[in-house]
Amino acid sequence: MSIRIAATGSYVPERILSNADLEKMVETNDEWIRTRTGIEERRIASPEQATSDLAYEACRKALETAGISGKEVDAIIVGTITPDFVFPSTGCILQHRLGAEGAFCFDLEAACSGLLYSLEVAYSLMKTHPKKYKYVLVCGAEKLSSITDWTNRNTCVLFGDGAGAILLENTEEDGPDCVIASDLHTDGGYGDILKMPAGGSRMPATKESLEAHLHFIHMEGKEVFKLAVNAMVGAGKSVLEEAGITPDEVKMVIPHQANSRIILAVAPRLGVPEERVYMNINRYGNTSAASIGLCLDEAVRAGKLAKGDYVLLTAFGGGLTWGAMLLRF
Ligand code: UT7
Repeated sequence: MSIRIAATGSYVPERILSNADLEKMVETNDEWIRTRTGIEERRIASPEQATSDLAYEACRKALETAGISGKEVDAIIVGTITPDFVFPSTGCILQHRLGAEGAFCFDLEAACSGLLYSLEVAYSLMKTHPKKYKYVLVCGAEKLSSITDWTNRNTCVLFGDGAGAILLENTEEDGPDCVIASDLHTDGGYGDILKMPAGGSRMPATKESLEAHLHFIHMEGKEVFKLAVNAMVGAGKSVLEEAGITPDEVKMVIPHQANSRIILAVAPRLGVPEERVYMNINRYGNTSAASIGLCLDEAVRAGKLAKGDYVLLTAFGGGLTWGAMLLRF
């Protein structure tokens, strides 16, 4: 038996928020945003749309592409830090909408590394219980606009909304699995440099917490930047070494889309030329757990990946969490 990627899917909301639009909201300018982050525009969900609605569209496309119904899915894992509710989980809501009655479902919170963490869990379940888990749906989905402080120029220019899904299948075919190697990490000691201070059990919502803007993303950007580059390079290298694959053999690197300067600093250190690094941050900004799935689905639908291609995923985010995963397409 082997585990393969059966299909991918993605979704972004219709509304585009451009840098010019942001110039009217905070003291910023298009040039600063483009040169410091690579972002030109981002998508913003409508007030009626929650994270599960974005996830639903991405998952629906993946199922349609694979030609299977929700009923055939055995588990759904949603990587998100912007669930519709604290509970029930976004996975539960998604299960109902997809008609995936037989699936057990949950959310996984690992910020921008959410998709990689979710893939690791999905792959491990499928490897351990191949008869039980034929199809597992993994989805990174975020409505970051709901936790973005639209009065803070340090952060509001960075984030956007979207969802990316990957359907894994346990097949009867012998051959290599789609997950060749992975290297995931956590360092809770740095939790304070990227977090949402209020809204959890540590600091439930109060009038004061709302007035102090504590229900929004707080980030010490410079510190995060430095750690991100080293962490993604380290994990990427270790994955290639474990797999015995040279950078030349990697068809595409898909890094979490946090900042084009981070991405362009990581690529040469991994020994992969820029033209083999996938970037769509200019159009979507940083969509946290959704970003890698959004890139992967775009690349697949554009015919940029063929069977057998090696794809290196790298991620970094709040927690701190980070890692890399080598996929064989
Ligand atoms: O996805 C999870 C992981 N997240 C990341 O990896 C993000 C990592 N960090 C970054 O991408 C970058 O640190 C940022 C894009 C957030 C910031 O870029 P930076 O080059 O580190 O800029 P900075 O924060 O050091 O700010 C430089 C200057 C400051 O002005 P002074 O103090 O030099 O006068 C800021 O006040 O730019 C100013 N600034 C802005 N100016 C115009 C900060 N934000 C803006 C803005 N527009 N939006």
